[in-house]
Formats: sequence, structure tokens, C-alpha cells
Amino acid sequence: MTQQEITITRPDDWHLHVRDGEALKAVVPHTAAQFGRAIIMPNLKPPVTTAAQAVAYRERIQAAVPKGMAFQPLMTLYLTDNLPADEIRRAKDAGVVAVKLYPAGATTNSDAGVTDLRKTCKTLEAMQREGLPLLVHGEVTSPEIDLFDREAVFIETQLVPLRRDFPELKIVVEHITTREAAQYVRAANRFTAATITAHHLLYNRNALFLGGIRPHYYCLPVLKREAHRVALVEAATGGNPKFFLGTDSAPHAAHLKEHACGCAGCYTAPAAMELYAEAFDQADALDKLEGFASFHGADFYGLPRNSGTVTLRREAWTLPETFAYGDALLKPLRGGELLSWSLS
Ligand code: DOR
Ligand code: ZN
Repeated sequence: MTQQEITITRPDDWHLHVRDGEALKAVVPHTAAQFGRAIIMPNLKPPVTTAAQAVAYRERIQAAVPKGMAFQPLMTLYLTDNLPADEIRRAKDAGVVAVKLYPAGATTNSDAGVTDLRKTCKTLEAMQREGLPLLVHGEVTSPEIDLFDREAVFIETQLVPLRRDFPELKIVVEHITTREAAQYVRAANRFTAATITAHHLLYNRNALFLGGIRPHYYCLPVLKREAHRVALVEAATGGNPKFFLGTDSAPHAAHLKEHACGCAGCYTAPAAMELYAEAFDQADALDKLEGFASFHGADFYGLPRNSGTVTLRREAWTLPETFAYGDALLKPLRGGELLSWSLS
């Protein structure tokens, strides 16, 4: 008989963008309604590069959590060519849980990112020593490399040497999009893991061009071919603890996505668990959702698993087409469409 509902331990989102100011107030309640904790990306303008900035940002996020909801933001620092190694100790003491690597120019607000990994050696050594994970946006930025090949080339030219030079540095390859990345992580040592978004499990690159250009399906790393999507579903639903949930929910005002030069990022926070349930259900693997969403990430980060549960029901509902976003509008992925699972 078709499974009608599933109850799992309260999940966490191990990769999330909440921005700042009015935008932050608009999006934090969506995530707090779904997840116990979330890893907050530091790509603000200017980026979060000190422990003190991370602590102040955490307070702004906590202030946006609706009364009565228990939600814990987990903070990260933004790696630059000159993030001092001694900031790592201060960050750890302040409760920062990881450092994010954006190759300079790879994506939204990555201008201050790393131009050459060799410049960050001392800082990476400190992270390895302190057990602070490096979260990697795994794409090369060279204009001569085809956009669809940038993740695979990054693994070969950057990640393999990095792994060799820092064998016990915890590394999370964020939002993997290719068969190559799934294979790399599966074969790598136990200090290596990966997050996978709901949209990369549900869609291939055709979604970007279905009957016309579809900016709300545009994110980085960009959606890939069907064979890659299938490989990601296998990774996510295979029960391997190296793979866990990270939505990469990345809000941008609708008019900046529906633009001649539209921003990268899919806003999935309002229905994140419903979208993951759909992907796991399609793969006939609902029994693997709890490990992926609620256990593997916490275990990798060395944090306690959440207590409490959430229930997903097979019950169709229509996701609102827009949400207020300061003075602008925010359009979630699948907004205005029917979703087959609902979270209570
Ligand atoms: O699509 C994306 N949007 N990819 C990223 O890496 C950054 C994110 C954002 O901040 O908008
Ligand atoms: Zn991201």
C-alpha cells in the first residue's frame, strides 16, 4: 500500500542563505518552521569574516525567529586570501561551526573569495587542528571552462590536491550536482561529505528551458543532465552517511531573477521538506529520508541529533506564488503549483 505519512526526527538544513535586514525577517520564519538548525552562509555584503561579525549576525537571525519556535542558526566565516589563522580559534570559541570557501567570482557575493588556495594554507592548518570544517563551493571560475564542467574540473584540479595536503581537514562539498562529485565523495576518506539540494534531486537542466527561459530554476552550480540527477538521487537515498540535506535556499527579489542578467539561487525554504519528500518518494526511498535529513549532518559535524519529530503527509496543497520580501516580492521554487506532500 502507498505510504500516506512519515514521521522523522526534526531535520536540519546544512546549507542556507538568509541574507540580512528586511530580507532576513522575511525568510527566517520559513526555515524555522521546517528545521531545528541551519548552517548560515556568510556571503553577505560585506562578507562575514570575523567571529565578532558572525556573533552579531547570529543575534539578528535569532531576533527574526517567531516567538515560540525553537530554531538555532549555526554560523560560518567566509574564507578570503587573508583570513588570519588566529581568527579560527576566536571563531571556534564563539560557536562558529565552519568556514566557507568561495572561489573568487564563482557565484553571488564571491568577489572577496579565494583567488588561490595556497594563500590560505595557514588558516586551513588551523581549521584542521581545531576540527572546524571547510565548506566548499566546488566550481572553478576560469572562463575557458564550460559552465557545466566547472564542478568536475574543480574536483580534479583543486579538491584532490587540497584533500592530499590536509588529510584530516573536514570538508563538505556543498550542493553537489554531478555524478563525478558523488563518486568522489563516496570514495574519499571519512573527513569528506557532501550536501545535496532538493532542486538538484528533482530537476535536470531541461527545467531551465521548459517552453522558455525559467529564471527561478537558475542557481549555481547550475542544474545538470538527467544522468547526473539520477546519480544524486542514488547518493541521497542510498543511506550513506556522507550525504546529507542542504537546501541552498537562496532568496533573491523576483525582479532581480526575472531580469536580463538574472541572479543565481532557488528559494526553496518554504517547502523544503515537502520537496525532499517528493524526491525520496519518487525513488521509493522514504525510509532513507530521516538519515539524510536528520542524522548524517549532525553526526558529521559532531553535534547532537535533534529531539522532537515532524510528520510529512501525502496531502496536496498549493504553495503560494509570492511572499513579501521587504519592498519587493520573493517567488519560491514551485510557487503557485501543487505539492504532493505537506509538513505538519
Ligand atoms: O545559486 C546560488 N545562489 N549559488 C550560490 O552559490 C550562492 C547563492 C546565493 O547566495 O544567492
Ligand atoms: Zn549556497
